[in-house]
Amino acid sequence: MLTIEPTGRILGAHVTGIDLSRPMTEEEFGAILLALGQHGVLRFPGQHIDAAALKAFSERFGPIQASVTGKFHDPEVPQVGILSNIVENGQPIGLADAGQDWHTDMSYNDTIGFVNVLYAVKVPRRDGKVLGSTVFANMHAAYDELDPALKTRLEGMTATHDFNKFWEEMRRRPGSTRPPLTPEQRAKRPPSVHPVFLTHPITGRKVLYCNPGYAIRINELDEAESDRVLETLFAHQLQPRYQYTHEWTENDLLIWDHIGTLHNAIPDYRPDEHRLMKRCQVMADWIFDPAFRQRALPRLAAE
Ligand code: SIN
Repeated sequence: MLTIEPTGRILGAHVTGIDLSRPMTEEEFGAILLALGQHGVLRFPGQHIDAAALKAFSERFGPIQASVTGKFHDPEVPQVGILSNIVENGQPIGLADAGQDWHTDMSYNDTIGFVNVLYAVKVPRRDGKVLGSTVFANMHAAYDELDPALKTRLEGMTATHDFNKFWEEMRRRPGSTRPPLTPEQRAKRPPSVHPVFLTHPITGRKVLYCNPGYAIRINELDEAESDRVLETLFAHQLQPRYQYTHEWTENDLLIWDHIGTLHNAIPDYRPDEHRLMKRCQVMADWIFDPAFRQRALPRLAAE
């Protein structure tokens, strides 16, 4: 039987009693969707799932975004990306520095990110301590506790998000092998504009939808003031009291809600301490559509 057990922390629940290598029933999917909105990060421990099943599970939440470089994906299932620091025959087998700072995926797209699906194949450890954790921050809580005057001032304002901001930040890291984006790659990921506050499509509550990885400008403010306000928002949303750390175990399948959380992959492991994850990045193409949402979430529709 499907069991959803909250961690009791600011985010997170553990979901057991389901085998994700087989299709979910409508009831299971509805319960998982609701739990995702409520808890932000869901851990399904002990899953044994191949790339095709990972893709099928992920696509229940929406279409999967293809990688901009076309590199580092499963050879048979290109929608499944490979994140890893493993080098074989002198060649990296995956993207080694994915997500290694605070951000939320696809805020730079017109169709923003909804869900990340990450499956742990290899988890680095040193002296028994798990390395390579992923830290999350709760943007429902960050909105709720934002200074009321700033909330009123920013209501109705928008921010521009740019994929190239995070890309360049990664390139500045010592030892980075990322080349600059080509003009063609930049054209595939043009900047995008979103409200600073979004109404979360599952909880119906407001979230602070702005993140240090991609947000470059509050459009209704002059540049200097925009910089000041963005710094204030970033400092506020990353306070430790909003954070929750997931320590990985092999065969964990983790999903998280991009609309209500930020995340940061911690690179505290050496090149010889191997980490290997499989990832699907799912877009929010139907979750904001009331008709689809009501079908997937009958309990919410009834409220
Ligand atoms: C990501 O940001 O998608 C990667 C997170 C991780 O590898 O922990």
